[in-house]
Amino acid sequence: MVAARITVNGKEAPIAPVKPHTTVLDFLRERGLTGTKEGCAEGECGACSVLVARPGVDKPTDWVAVNACLVPVAALDGQEVITSEGLATAGQPGTPSTLHPVQEEMAVRGGSQCGYCTPGFICSMAAEYYRPDRCAASASASGSGSGSGSADGGDPEHGPNGFDLHALSGNLCRCTGYRPIRDAAFAVGSPTEDDPLAQRRERPAPEPVATEYTQDDSAFLRPGNLAEALRQLRERPDAVVLAGSTDWGVEVNIRSRRASCVVAIDRLPELRELHVASDHIEIGAAKTLTEIERRLDGSVPLLAGLFPQFASRLIRNSATLGGNLGTGSPIGDSAPVLLALEASVVLAGADGEREVPLCDYFTGYRQSVRRPGELIRAVRIPLPLSPVAAFHKIAKRRFDDISSVAVAFALDIEDGTVRKARIGLGGVSATPIRAYATEAALEGRPWAARTALAAARVLQAEGTPMDDHRASAEYRSAMLRQSLLKLHAQTTEQNAAPTTEQSTEAVPS
Ligand code: FES
Ligand code: FES
Repeated sequence: MVAARITVNGKEAPIAPVKPHTTVLDFLRERGLTGTKEGCAEGECGACSVLVARPGVDKPTDWVAVNACLVPVAALDGQEVITSEGLATAGQPGTPSTLHPVQEEMAVRGGSQCGYCTPGFICSMAAEYYRPDRCAASASASGSGSGSGSADGGDPEHGPNGFDLHALSGNLCRCTGYRPIRDAAFAVGSPTEDDPLAQRRERPAPEPVATEYTQDDSAFLRPGNLAEALRQLRERPDAVVLAGSTDWGVEVNIRSRRASCVVAIDRLPELRELHVASDHIEIGAAKTLTEIERRLDGSVPLLAGLFPQFASRLIRNSATLGGNLGTGSPIGDSAPVLLALEASVVLAGADGEREVPLCDYFTGYRQSVRRPGELIRAVRIPLPLSPVAAFHKIAKRRFDDISSVAVAFALDIEDGTVRKARIGLGGVSATPIRAYATEAALEGRPWAARTALAAARVLQAEGTPMDDHRASAEYRSAMLRQSLLKLHAQTTEQNAAPTTEQSTEAVPS
């Protein structure tokens, strides 16, 4: 097997001799690329953001921003990375001292003060700068005042140049203030034709490379296919399974966990497909949330309501549904939504596959029916979808925060009567749960204020919420109650738009 190598800012380098748990952040900084900063080391500040070349949605390659503090460098064997240092030369070929257009806008609009967060903002901003559908929006707006540095009325989260501020939802700044940063984001234009990173999008992204990287007594393994992954898991029962690495990085950096063996499954082709059939949607467990969001394009409204509230764009660029369910966290935001959608998980093991309804999957705190050596291959969502859907996340911050309580609703209401109700809850029990008693209190009854009030009282008593640093048990129960009353108000008040009212748009196949 060829020695593991990574291409950083156009230059290839061996990954050895670092240890397999070494993050991309530490690897870069030890090689003098100190523009990439460590702030939190757990995926919450974005100071470590870098760009990685990934298979694109609208072009062969997308430049995707990820948290370098969470990704093991061995996971980027054969891959291409650009740091803030590399952007300066990439934006203007032949003039290494010239700033990249996003760096230029940040400088002239006062978007940087102490500068600690700036390289991370620059990389997240550059990923959005190169997003093909933003570039198209920017081109169409160029004759109407693009680059004025304001949202130009309307949607405050999108600039007149098509810049989506959610691209920066994982980047924190503690001294400049966000207005000048937003001004810079809304002022960037479109890449020129001779921009090397724009040109790079036209060629395929690097294929995943089968990797066996060992140093001392620990190993990083990237199998080439599912059968090989299952064999490796059989042979190495001590192995930690790595998907988007958003949990792994926290374990390594904050809890000093050092696995003797890591098996990376995030690029397995069998886990990376998304199919739409007549009676279900099957989403590969290793597709990132950003990929799912762009592919489904709003056609599953509950998921469309979930994605903007799931951590940050930086995290969604790596995180997977398989990883979120695999960790079994009671506060993972995807589980309540998938419970309301009546999803099931497809588990692959040595004896073949089995499908388990998600409502039967969790068995205890961070425990599930998944057996040793089994992998979540896919998540299946039955069709048709219920026509009324909403996801309510109660947290201290609007974005990039952990839920105190999460509630997902999916209701069939016909002729004013609730025919079917499915409700998923997170943060109120040792596992994500279905609110069965509330569902029973709604089904067969008119979707009227008295029904909602009675069912809200039932919902308030679901689960076994506890006091912790995020919220008290009493607050959590109150939020459960309020979420159903809010859903009722949103779906019945004439002037209020439902949170995630189901669209009639067809699911793209
Ligand atoms: Fe804060 Fe990586 S250092 S997200
Ligand atoms: Fe100082 Fe952002 S410029 S933290």
